[in-house]
Amino acid sequence: MKEFVHLPVMLDEVLSIMDPAAGHRYVDGTVGGGGHSAEILRRIRPHGWLLGCDHDAAALAAAHDHLKAIADCFELRQGSFAEVLRDEPTGSMDGALVDLGVSSHQIDTPERGFSFQSDGPLDMRMDPRQGATAADLLATLDEQELASIFWRLGGERHSRKIARAICEVRVNRPFSRTVQLAELIARVAPNPRQKIHPATRVFQALRMAVNREVENIEAGLSQLWRILRRGGKLAVITFHSVEVQLVRRFYQPLEKAYIVDGPVDRPEFRREAPSRLRRVTRRAVVPGEAECRRNPRARSAQLRVFEKLETAMDMVQDTAKT
Ligand SMILES: C[S@@+](CC[C@H](N)C(=O)[O-])C[C@H]1O[C@@H](n2cnc3c(N)ncnc32)[C@H](O)[C@@H]1O
Repeated sequence: MKEFVHLPVMLDEVLSIMDPAAGHRYVDGTVGGGGHSAEILRRIRPHGWLLGCDHDAAALAAAHDHLKAIADCFELRQGSFAEVLRDEPTGSMDGALVDLGVSSHQIDTPERGFSFQSDGPLDMRMDPRQGATAADLLATLDEQELASIFWRLGGERHSRKIARAICEVRVNRPFSRTVQLAELIARVAPNPRQKIHPATRVFQALRMAVNREVENIEAGLSQLWRILRRGGKLAVITFHSVEVQLVRRFYQPLEKAYIVDGPVDRPEFRREAPSRLRRVTRRAVVPGEAECRRNPRARSAQLRVFEKLETAMDMVQDTAKT
């Protein structure tokens, strides 16, 4: 098997803000090869506990080898962190981390089909055991559905033109290879003035659709928040604007909470309520120049950390329990 290579992004920043300590319980929702998890494990061992999830069995195998060399107080589970954490008790974790998107190992393994730079089958499933591949979507969705995916999940300005071209070409020649799709996009929607490859946005959009990333991130962030204890911290690393939007949709209602004092939820009936979340990082933290030079894939990364606050309502409930 190809060696698993992935440099953890903003590792120093994650550790200094999250400050994992001996005995803490942590969850890494996107454990990958275990880059972040290994350093968390070093700090929480021997009485702490780390739970790592990933869609990808190859990532979990690499993470297992990496973590085993440090301590054995961890468990790895395959699946989306939205699903895998369902049975974890509420308020049971001191800290949580998600480092969204794909790993370098996935991009650099052509057979996985994530890269438009090296030829491979149009697969893109993070968990190759289940679900439709990118080739399946390109063969079965209609022109409007494809254009909508390219626009919503990739922000591709030429979404309609590209979707039309795909539908015209697939009649005679179904899409099965990454380079076949990348070449078509470069032909119908070249972008000589931009630094990124013309296929970048469509590949991002297809990958998100194949792996149901919007649904998984939405449900997964709520799940991580539920299992975090009050005072615990959640760190989220994003790589593009669609992920950032999803993170904002998650934290804004918790930060600016309100109570409805009327028959319907309208602005005039809203009364301010105590925040349930504090933004530990007021602005997103970005990698320094040295890291971007060492690891160009870190360039677009943004780190946000949120603390789960104790509200007056929680304190009343706790007193009632005792
Ligand atoms: C950027 S990598 C994480 C790298 C890891 N932090 C490290 O330092 O080695 C993202 C990983 O998350 C996984 N992934 C993405 N979305 C996921 C989800 N909703 N549930 C579980 N795993 C997911 C991918 O398969 C990939 O292995």
